[in-house]
Amino acid sequence: MDSDVSIPQGLPEKIPVHIAIIMDGNGRWAQARNLPRIAGHRAGTENLRRIIEACIEFGISYLTIYAFSTENWGRPQDEVQGLLHILEDVIDRELQELHDQGVQLHHIGRLERLAPHLREKVLHAVDLTRGNQRLVLNVAFNYGGRDEIVHAIQEMIKDGVQAADVTDEMVSKYLFTAGIPDPDLIIRTSGELRISNFMIWQGAYAEWYFPPVYWPDFDKEQLRLAIHEFSQRERRYGRVSSPVVDIEPNG
Ligand code: FPP
Repeated sequence: MDSDVSIPQGLPEKIPVHIAIIMDGNGRWAQARNLPRIAGHRAGTENLRRIIEACIEFGISYLTIYAFSTENWGRPQDEVQGLLHILEDVIDRELQELHDQGVQLHHIGRLERLAPHLREKVLHAVDLTRGNQRLVLNVAFNYGGRDEIVHAIQEMIKDGVQAADVTDEMVSKYLFTAGIPDPDLIIRTSGELRISNFMIWQGAYAEWYFPPVYWPDFDKEQLRLAIHEFSQRERRYGRVSSPVVDIEPNG
């Protein structure tokens, strides 16, 4: 699947602080080449490295990627094992370089279901990169938006939070993304038009962008195009465009 939209040069003045991506289409990318699905995920992982670099170059502060959902456990076992292996491989092979580039790694989702040695690797990566400031990379792995909200409610109850004290801000503090600004722009590649349980709380006022390319083909220039499109959008947060002229009642 190719996009024939012409790509603008440079970057607009208004760029998103936080971009979140549903990296969809790896399976179809592989299928179109008569390759196993996991080859698509590997190509998607190589692309991720390029997009991280582009985000650093473009001055994006936060990037969130949907790498494995709470529903993905239902995929064929070899694909699940392949994705777990990719996570481990990325940490083993890329951690030092990401650290050197100033990337702060953050995990969102549940670590409990991962094997203890993999859990340790994730925690080590988070710990090592804690002080980095150039780009915060949130890896959503074993993540689901509903599960995140259920988890937040459970934690609030455990902490004895009173019903009257529950506010938007309080809920946000109990999410896996506590302290991280909401995404401004959410990109889902491959042409699918669904949220699929991704950042359902945080994405309440995000701008969505659905490029018609599979994730392994979503390159730096496609990202530039997405940022340009974002810069043209008017975000109203449920209000109206300003300036607002009130009509006087005429007696
Ligand atoms: C969706 O495409 C993609 C995924 C479920 C996995 C995405 C994961 C990666 C790109 C690698 C992750 C990197 C890390 C750090 C672990 P799909 O398989 O649903 O594609 P399809 O809809 O064409 O079948």
